[in-house]
Amino acid sequence: ATTLGASAAESGRYFGAAVSNQYLSEAAYANTLAAEFNSVVAENSMKWDATEPNPGQFNFSGGDQLVNWAQARGMKVRGHTLVWHAQQPGWVQNLTGQNLRNAMLNHIAGVANHYEGDVFAWDVVNEAFEWDGSRRQSNLQQQLGNGWIEEAFRAADAADPTARLCYNDYGTDAINAKSTAIYNMVRDFKSRGVPIDCVGFQTHIAANENLSSYQANLQRFADLGVDVEITELDVGQGSGQAATYETVTRACMAVARCTGITVWGVTDKYSWRDDNPLLFDGNYQKKAAYHTVLAALNNG
Ligand code: G3I
Repeated sequence: ATTLGASAAESGRYFGAAVSNQYLSEAAYANTLAAEFNSVVAENSMKWDATEPNPGQFNFSGGDQLVNWAQARGMKVRGHTLVWHAQQPGWVQNLTGQNLRNAMLNHIAGVANHYEGDVFAWDVVNEAFEWDGSRRQSNLQQQLGNGWIEEAFRAADAADPTARLCYNDYGTDAINAKSTAIYNMVRDFKSRGVPIDCVGFQTHIAANENLSSYQANLQRFADLGVDVEITELDVGQGSGQAATYETVTRACMAVARCTGITVWGVTDKYSWRDDNPLLFDGNYQKKAAYHTVLAALNNG
């Protein structure tokens, strides 16, 4: 096929982009997004600070706007993210003990229940591990102890039994200490029946990233019985950018349980990075990386 989304769909996969609502009124942005992608994720508007600015007072306006925009165009929506140490509203940051636990569980219930039927997958927990494989010493970890990730997944399953529930992280682009710690957690969850369906690999990487174990890493997770997804792909500029995008895409295509790819933005004009890491340049022109990704989606 001739677009990213349609090409991915031919193998039952999706190809998505992270979206900030403020750009949807820009014609070139909206047209590129609608023409090329078949999935979206909110870059910020479904996070805790956006969806529950005050305790128990939910604000779904930004997320709902994106869901409506996507559904009107036949596009799927990923959910990002229910629990994260960053972008917590101020009122959460100083909670302790059972108060923080109740806030987390109530937040998951409120947001996941609201979007039931609208999102096909949730990043239930985002970025809970350090490079050395230890747990990140966030307020969640320090106040709630090791069991908080399991508690979050059980709460998400109760609130939305239909969405696929993912653990999502970065720096997991190789078989390394961090990805192995997550692997061990997923294996433990599967063995004890903790509801987890998928693992997200953010894949914020450099043009010269060593991806020699990237596919094998995806495959070892898939072999645990979870789907894997490339959730926030972007690759820094440089001579290897197009080839690196191609390697990641080919790896997903080669792993049967790799269900789709999301790039973390549409255009280099609007990226959280300043090194032109996306598939369309600032004028919405297709870059070399666009063409290698499209070919990889079509050739397997
Ligand atoms: O909305 C406010 C605005 O009102 C205010 O005037 C402005 C002033 O700084 O800030 C705006 O909020 C910013 C928000 O993006 C929306 O633009 C925040 O400061 C800024 O920190 C926030 O950055 C986001 C970042 O997550 C927060 O950690 C990025 O857009 C977003 O791309 C990034 O996404 C993360 C994923 O969620 C998780 N994985 C890593 C990825 C990249 O960091």
